[in-house]
Amino acid sequence: MRGKTVLVTGSTAGIGRETARRLALLGAEVILVGRHPERARAAAAEISREAGEVTALTADLSDLAGLRRLADQVTERYDRLDVLVNNAGGMNAERRLTRDGVEATFAVNVLAPYALTCLLLPTLRAAGAARVVNLTGGMPGGTIDPGNLQGEKKYLGWRFAHYNHAKTALMAMSHRFASQLEEGGVTVNVAYPGHAYTPGNQATPMRAFPYLYRPAAPLIRLLGPLLLSNMTKASRSSVHLASSPEMEGVTGAYVDAKARRAAWPSGALDEGGQQAVWSECERLSGLTPG
Ligand SMILES: NC(=O)c1ccc[n+]([C@@H]2O[C@H](COP(=O)([O-])OP(=O)(O)OC[C@H]3O[C@@H](n4cnc5c(N)ncnc54)[C@H](OP(=O)(O)O)[C@@H]3O)[C@@H](O)[C@H]2O)c1
Repeated sequence: MRGKTVLVTGSTAGIGRETARRLALLGAEVILVGRHPERARAAAAEISREAGEVTALTADLSDLAGLRRLADQVTERYDRLDVLVNNAGGMNAERRLTRDGVEATFAVNVLAPYALTCLLLPTLRAAGAARVVNLTGGMPGGTIDPGNLQGEKKYLGWRFAHYNHAKTALMAMSHRFASQLEEGGVTVNVAYPGHAYTPGNQATPMRAFPYLYRPAAPLIRLLGPLLLSNMTKASRSSVHLASSPEMEGVTGAYVDAKARRAAWPSGALDEGGQQAVWSECERLSGLTPG
């Protein structure tokens, strides 16, 4: 990865930080992005001690103005971007709107990767052969409900239902993005990291557990480090898509937690679902890859 510039969102903690660390160790010039300046600087300093200089930028990815400021900072400082890892993501127990009036889980998991990729497209194209890596999660693959992309009709926060729907939407958007960019030298692929013992997972509240499991929840929590993947395993698929020579020129691929090619879930391939997600992203962001 020497000579390559890589941006990883959500890289102050968890899978994103490990992805940034491993790509820096492979020799890439890494741009780390976090919401809080202090946390971003601390994570960058920690990685830098081991892997050389890492740049820390700050942005709230749930905010379109924040995404634009981030893209401006990147394009001002860098002539080219070789890899964009849209790693930041997560779920919200309650339906809540961002400053732009967008439902927050959809905003961070789907709209932010779409908008950031559009905004950075000229810088990615300047790299000649660039890669976009989007992270899915939960249990993606159900049918996309075009009328409930932002939980307008029904919002099931915990129990992962809305999160699963958002990650299926992210996959649908990524698949469409890959076909739109087929000729342009920029590939778009999706990584599934598996279930990992990250700060995000550790913060899962009791009501996220189905009733039957709640009595065992403290034990499940205690056993978390044994039951869930460590960061090395969880970052394997994104590091593979970002850096493996095998993936050179490959677009529209989905890889599992062991970084093996996997079949796309049917919900993400449905034409109607893809179109609905794509139109929603265009409408909310005012951006198109063109
Ligand atoms: N952990 C799992 O088991 C698992 C399983 C499948 C998929 N995934 C997916 O893998 C990715 C990483 O998950 P993780 O568990 O490592 O996450 P995590 O521990 O919750 O860390 C999330 C990272 O994203 C950043 N972030 C969250 N919202 C943001 C926002 N609005 N603006 C800017 N940064 C924001 C956080 O930054 P701050 O420092 O600002 O909080 C943090 O660096 C996510 O897309 C997740 O959906 C995770």
